[in-house]
Amino acid sequence: MRRVIMMTGAGALLLSLQAMAATSTPAGDDAAVMARGAYLATASDCTACHTAPGGKPMAGGLAIASPVGDIIASNITPSTSDGIGDYSEQDFARALRKGVRADGANLYPAMPYTAYAHLSDDDIHALYVYFMKGVTPVNEPTGTTNLPFPMNLRFSMKFWNLLFLKDGVITPDPQHSETWNRGRYLVEGPAHCSTCHTPRGILMQEKGDQWLAGAQVGPWYAPNITPDVTSGIGSWSRQDLVTYLKTGRIDRAQAAGSMAEAIEHSFQHLTDDDLKAMATYLGTLPAIRTGDDGSSAEEDNRFERGSPGSDLSFRGTSYAKGLKGDSEGAQLYAAHCASCHNYDGQGTADGYYPSLYHNAALGGDTASNLLAAILYGVDRETQNGHFFMPPFGDQPNAVTSLDNEQIAALANYLLERYGNPDVSVSSQDVQSIRDGGPASNILMLARVGMAAGGIVLVVVLIAVILHRRRRR
Ligand code: HEC
Ligand code: HEC
Ligand code: HEC
Repeated sequence: MRRVIMMTGAGALLLSLQAMAATSTPAGDDAAVMARGAYLATASDCTACHTAPGGKPMAGGLAIASPVGDIIASNITPSTSDGIGDYSEQDFARALRKGVRADGANLYPAMPYTAYAHLSDDDIHALYVYFMKGVTPVNEPTGTTNLPFPMNLRFSMKFWNLLFLKDGVITPDPQHSETWNRGRYLVEGPAHCSTCHTPRGILMQEKGDQWLAGAQVGPWYAPNITPDVTSGIGSWSRQDLVTYLKTGRIDRAQAAGSMAEAIEHSFQHLTDDDLKAMATYLGTLPAIRTGDDGSSAEEDNRFERGSPGSDLSFRGTSYAKGLKGDSEGAQLYAAHCASCHNYDGQGTADGYYPSLYHNAALGGDTASNLLAAILYGVDRETQNGHFFMPPFGDQPNAVTSLDNEQIAALANYLLERYGNPDVSVSSQDVQSIRDGGPASNILMLARVGMAAGGIVLVVVLIAVILHRRRRR
């Protein structure tokens, strides 16, 4: 059941007066403000979470998997019965920046308010106008979120906010160019890159000292995008990054999973100036070295690993015959992958089917994206075209389903030949990606037993608060 916001007549009048005051711009400006609001909603990718697959725009209902259970995204259409039609601009600003609903209850940080906290007053206003006037109201309730104790206590998020919600509309830094400042605003605020790319601590907070240094998000791994040359994207030019955000691909990296979605819904629609601004800012961040392969050679970055296959058995007429003696991995590759990625793993000349050596999915310190690509495939549609690789998982529509042992054999063969030979996977690793990604600490806490988990959580919170106090 969805909560209904109760208001006295006077309260309602006051709210609508406030809303009117806040939105009363000259008629000509209205269209411009609406357009800005729509652009910001796209840049912030509100639809990624608030529109369910096949559902009505912004009507919510999508269950967002968290380590402690599903969190249902709200209906944020201007419906007064089921959406945010009764929200004043102040309520709206508070939800976006402070993670508090109009009725005063706290939101879970599955709603990325720690990033939206950086939105400027003007942008909040434009978003509000767009949501109230540009989005069609949908009078349909969403399901409710039922997390286990103690996570069901929404007020516990107040403690979380005390620790991890930084106050902060971003003010321009005069030391830097306008482009850089715009990039910083977009990256840290609306585009919320860190929601996926920053590793999280035990309480699911983003780790500040590991900002954008790479994190597991479900079955996919959002890699290190700091300018470190070996672990991050320091070897990319600014234009590489702009191209990737616009199209989802460069020769060394292709976007699948949640990054493909973010590009489809959001980044590809941003202006070139905004994409350049983000790339400019990201290029000036502190470089963070992750993983310890002991190498610092610039050419040994994760986009340069591997080389074309040289199996004689893969060439010419001896191909079919030669395969008999080859490893299971090689045979699986020939049977299921070579038709697109080619016998030497070099892909096609036009680049539509990418090369598997010098490829981000195989050269990094984790095989998550290789395993996820095999299990879930790639399906990304942008102005640049439709890129599709079939899934080999247990989807009902999968043409071929490979089992865990087969995928492990295939992946180990590919890592050895085309990727990072120091990484290898087991069939359990494949199962974990099949199950939606490695479990996190919080899940363990929850599994220890709800009450025990609650006690641990409270003790940890108190310890952290005391620690902070002492440091101040
Ligand atoms: C990464 C997912 C995600 C994105 C992106 C996102 N939201 Fe949310 N939002 C949620 C979830 C989940 C909830 C419900 C959380 C809860 O119940 O505690 C929510 C709740 C809200 C609420 C509270 C509504 C209510 O009364 O229940 C508002 C308002 C809102 N979002 C607005 C927005 C706007 C505007 C944007 C884009 C600027 C946006 N959200 C982007 C996940 C997201
Ligand atoms: C919803 C989660 C999510 C958000 C938000 C997100 N990313 Fe990603 N990103 C990913 C995932 C997952 C991958 C890995 C995709 C793959 O390789 O198939 C990725 C890959 C990348 C890569 C390629 C890196 C490599 O080594 O292959 C770059 C660059 C990147 N993201 C930049 C950004 C920037 C910049 C932003 C913000 C403007 C952003 N991402 C926001 C999830 C996300
Ligand atoms: C029908 C053609 C086809 C087949 C068969 C195929 N792929 Fe792909 N593969 C693609 C396409 C298309 C892409 C994505 C290109 C893009 O995103 O721009 C891709 C991308 C990939 C990526 C990069 C994904 C990422 O997120 O970075 C990997 C790794 C990969 N394939 C491995 C495999 C393996 C292993 C097999 C065999 C099990 C296989 N592919 C079979 C067409 C195919």
